[in-house]
Amino acid sequence: MVFAATAKGFHCTGFEINSILTGYARVKSNWKGIPSSTASFVNQDFWKTDLSKYNNVTVFLAPGVMEVLGRKLEKELPDEARVIACRFPFPDWTPTATEGEGLDQTWAYDMNVIRKLSTQAAMK
Ligand SMILES: C[S@@+](CC[C@H](N)C(=O)[O-])C[C@H]1O[C@@H](n2cnc3c(N)ncnc32)[C@H](O)[C@@H]1O
Repeated sequence: MVFAATAKGFHCTGFEINSILTGYARVKSNWKGIPSSTASFVNQDFWKTDLSKYNNVTVFLAPGVMEVLGRKLEKELPDEARVIACRFPFPDWTPTATEGEGLDQTWAYDMNVIRKLSTQAAMK
């Protein structure tokens, strides 16, 4: 995902808790000639990371963590942030768009929309 995003011109940070996978991604990035200023890979637990400086967040995790991850992102991300979920959607969020199907389905969410809907729901 990081390589696909850098190919579209984004500067990316990939968080991966498994040090072998982090190492593999770094080697692959070097091999592709991608500068670390464009793509960096950190061996870090994103649950312990403040994500507030990111405007675009793409996640490919597991169904069991999506609800609680949604709450973390709602607290931390700026209003203009966009979140892409791969394979497993956020159960409580309404997507702005979706692409693909089956194992390749992705959902896009805009934080300003998510916050607006959650405020409206709280007022009912
Ligand atoms: C479904 S796999 C996706 C693997 C790979 N990123 C890809 O796109 O094919 C989820 C990955 O998230 C990593 N992961 C799970 N919990 C994490 C955490 N708290 N912080 C960082 N990475 C985590 C796992 O080690 C695993 O490699």
